[in-house]
Amino acid sequence: MFMNILITGGTGFLGTILVKRLVQKQHQVYVLVRNQSKLEALYKHFNEQERQQIKVVEGDLLDENLGISSSVLAELAKKIDAIYHTAAYLSFDEEERQRVFDINLTGTKRVLELATSLDVDKFIHVSTAYTLGEQTIGEEKLHSTNRSFVNTYEESKCHAEHLVMSYQGQMNVMIMRPAIIIGDSFTGEADTTFGLYGILRTVKLLKKKVERKGEPKQNFRLLIEKDTVSNLVPVDFVINMLMLGLTYGEDGKIYHITNPNPPTNGEIFDAIRKGLDFPHVEIVSYSEANELTEEERKLNQPLEVFEQYLNRSITFKRENTKRLLKQANEADLSMDQEMLLRIIKGFDEQE
Ligand SMILES: NC(=O)c1ccc[n+]([C@@H]2O[C@H](COP(=O)([O-])OP(=O)(O)OC[C@H]3O[C@@H](n4cnc5c(N)ncnc54)[C@H](OP(=O)(O)O)[C@@H]3O)[C@@H](O)[C@H]2O)c1
Repeated sequence: MFMNILITGGTGFLGTILVKRLVQKQHQVYVLVRNQSKLEALYKHFNEQERQQIKVVEGDLLDENLGISSSVLAELAKKIDAIYHTAAYLSFDEEERQRVFDINLTGTKRVLELATSLDVDKFIHVSTAYTLGEQTIGEEKLHSTNRSFVNTYEESKCHAEHLVMSYQGQMNVMIMRPAIIIGDSFTGEADTTFGLYGILRTVKLLKKKVERKGEPKQNFRLLIEKDTVSNLVPVDFVINMLMLGLTYGEDGKIYHITNPNPPTNGEIFDAIRKGLDFPHVEIVSYSEANELTEEERKLNQPLEVFEQYLNRSITFKRENTKRLLKQANEADLSMDQEMLLRIIKGFDEQE
């Protein structure tokens, strides 16, 4: 069914692919854009005809009323059927706490207010599976905000989820919680530096160094627990789930867009060594931190913010997600080593 759909974050990694899918499905897409060069990058994905299906709404989550002019608001009134709120600030830097909350919480409030003022039917909020904080079992329920979080980002997203649910009754609201999003399961395409891609870049830099300076005497060691699992989900699976949410999603429900059989870090590194064709990197337990050389210590520094993610296996319950897939008669994610390898090779080729 044709819909008018507004999306925030449409110029981001996930958002761009979502806009593509919505255009492909013949919807009219309204994209909140704050940055002209990002808009131009988005446009590059579409031909002239497809661009007709994209309307730009200039605005910023940091501004009152999102900075949308009253004439544009009047134009949009009663026109928008659904909103995907994907925009967020993905920073783990504690010094940026205020900005993270301003964008991820106050910004979400502004988008919710826009949705009520436009009389939108459905609000699909993209959160993260990691609003569970330091717990190791995640239910598809709101997590209390009174808990230990790994970082401000998680905390801001947890508060935003509560806010979204408080609008239930004014429109249909649902929360989609992806785990760690990686590239497309067929092409590996991924326009992001977040999560796994920080690690892939580190390994790639090492490879370049070895190419310049010759083979190392011993492998480079990264502090990552090999038996813990990392919940990686290919971006195309995330997009499928977001689309199913639009058709079948139930009001007030939370969906874990997670991998039912996540790989161990050992398996991920097997794929990285093979995919990047670089055998000189190995992962060792945090208990060996004191044995690292000075060079390895520096190498491990950028990974410190991920320590809580790389060091802990989390089980995500996904009954709601399974029901959504069943309703649509669609298969669940089944990511094997081959798919992982393809995604990592895709990153290598795209660099
Ligand atoms: N990537 C992951 O592994 C992952 C995992 C779980 C959940 N998520 C969630 O998925 C969503 C999308 O993440 P992503 O990886 O696609 O992030 P991303 O590539 O950084 O994209 C973020 C988007 O938000 C927009 N944005 C940020 N601040 C804004 C502001 N003040 N006003 C208007 N727009 C603003 C950005 O606009 P510009 O293009 O102008 O910068 C961009 O379009 C987020 O909600 C994130 O929390 C991501």
